[in-house]
Amino acid sequence: MDAKTVEESRVETVYLVRPTHLNGANRLFGGILMQWMDEAAGIVAKRHSMCNVTTASVDNLTFLQGAYQGDMIVIKGKLTWVGSSSMEVCVDTYVENLSGERNHINNAHFMMVALDENDRPVKVPRLILQTEDEYLAWAHGEERRRIRIQRKKDKLDGI
Ligand SMILES: CC(C)(COP(=O)(O)OP(=O)(O)OC[C@H]1O[C@@H](n2cnc3c(N)ncnc32)[C@H](O)[C@@H]1OP(=O)(O)O)[C@@H](O)C(=O)NCCC(=O)NCCS
Repeated sequence: MDAKTVEESRVETVYLVRPTHLNGANRLFGGILMQWMDEAAGIVAKRHSMCNVTTASVDNLTFLQGAYQGDMIVIKGKLTWVGSSSMEVCVDTYVENLSGERNHINNAHFMMVALDENDRPVKVPRLILQTEDEYLAWAHGEERRRIRIQRKKDKLDGI
């Protein structure tokens, strides 16, 4: 199985906030944004693994600022860490204004798992790191994986 670069699976999607995307306070409903982010993470993971994928967990989902009707929402997803069957996708969300400036409004890390035809985890290609930022993101990803493993163990132990 050939290793792949971060660039090969990177995605950027753009949405326009419409009236049906708003909550009772006339802001972008968080659940809609989470759906868009999950889809972006899924596409990154599918491109890398060339398999169906599922979301195993989401870390550090942080709403920094709101978005409003008519806003252009840019969602960027890229791989930061890859295990045997799991892939960590960093998803950043921005509001883009008419001058093209982007204001960062959300960040999260999605853990996606590649599945075979029987819905069992399956091996994915290794990730080729090419830049200092990619090496740094990988190191942070390893640290998050260590925390996630402990958190899952705690959940199973009912802690
Ligand atoms: C994710 C899932 C496929 C993992 O299955 P599993 O039987 O626990 O498989 P394993 O223990 O072999 O784990 C497979 C990989 O997933 C990772 N993983 C499992 N649970 C995880 C979690 N909660 N968070 C992060 N990674 C997780 C493991 O670390 C492992 O990674 P690796 O292969 O890179 O080492 C299974 O728990 C599942 O189907 N969950 C439901 C997912 C779903 O329906 N998502 C949509 C929600 S609407």
